[in-house]
Amino acid sequence: MINELVAACDRFNQARPWSHNNHYHRWILRQLPTSIDTALDVGCGTGDLARRLAHRATSVVAVDRDPTVIAHALTHAPTNVRFVQADVLDLPEDRYQAMTCVAALHHLPLAPALTRFRQWLAPGGTLVVIGLYVPATIVDHVWQAAAVPSNLLVSWAHGHDTPTVAMTAPVRQPTTTLAQLRTQVEPILPGAQIRRRLFWRYSLIWRA
Ligand SMILES: C[S@@+](CC[C@H](N)C(=O)[O-])C[C@H]1O[C@@H](n2cnc3c(N)ncnc32)[C@H](O)[C@@H]1O
Repeated sequence: MINELVAACDRFNQARPWSHNNHYHRWILRQLPTSIDTALDVGCGTGDLARRLAHRATSVVAVDRDPTVIAHALTHAPTNVRFVQADVLDLPEDRYQAMTCVAALHHLPLAPALTRFRQWLAPGGTLVVIGLYVPATIVDHVWQAAAVPSNLLVSWAHGHDTPTVAMTAPVRQPTTTLAQLRTQVEPILPGAQIRRRLFWRYSLIWRA
């Protein structure tokens, strides 16, 4: 039932220029320092967040394993953004002051990915994840249901914005509940703040 509602919302959104992921970009930027040395965006899709990070960061690496989205991202690449087509887990060791990962963590093996993120985050650096989860509790279902009218309102309000192409990136259904996620994240990123969010998403913040 909820999947049908989400699909209906996606169709409504596609008729208007809006993405559940891009909705969180401004919030993500507020969690990051105003001036960043190097940033990494994991699963960057067509690069909307990387382009926003480029206004803050000296240099941005934006990685996605899908050649089609990277080809599209490269058509609008600021000089300080390096779009890389690769599996993020194959990237060479490096250090980043800010790392972001929007709607992509559930595409990755969770523990190896989080371990790699922790290794790559510079001391004092910030990791911000917006992810998808499987609803399991009554509270989850209430939030998921509340997202439907909110989606229609926000989508209607965004109706005259510039169209986004972010929704063309490959998608996958999540397989982890919030409780499972918390259990698996805590040993790797102790003290990470995980919060349920609107639009079928959660946020995770961890400061190294
Ligand atoms: C749902 S899309 C989200 C794209 C973008 N972050 C956004 O907010 O619109 C998930 C992206 O993660 C990418 N991805 C999946 N597994 C990956 C991996 N192992 N390494 C790099 N990118 C990956 C997919 O190709 C896809 O573009």
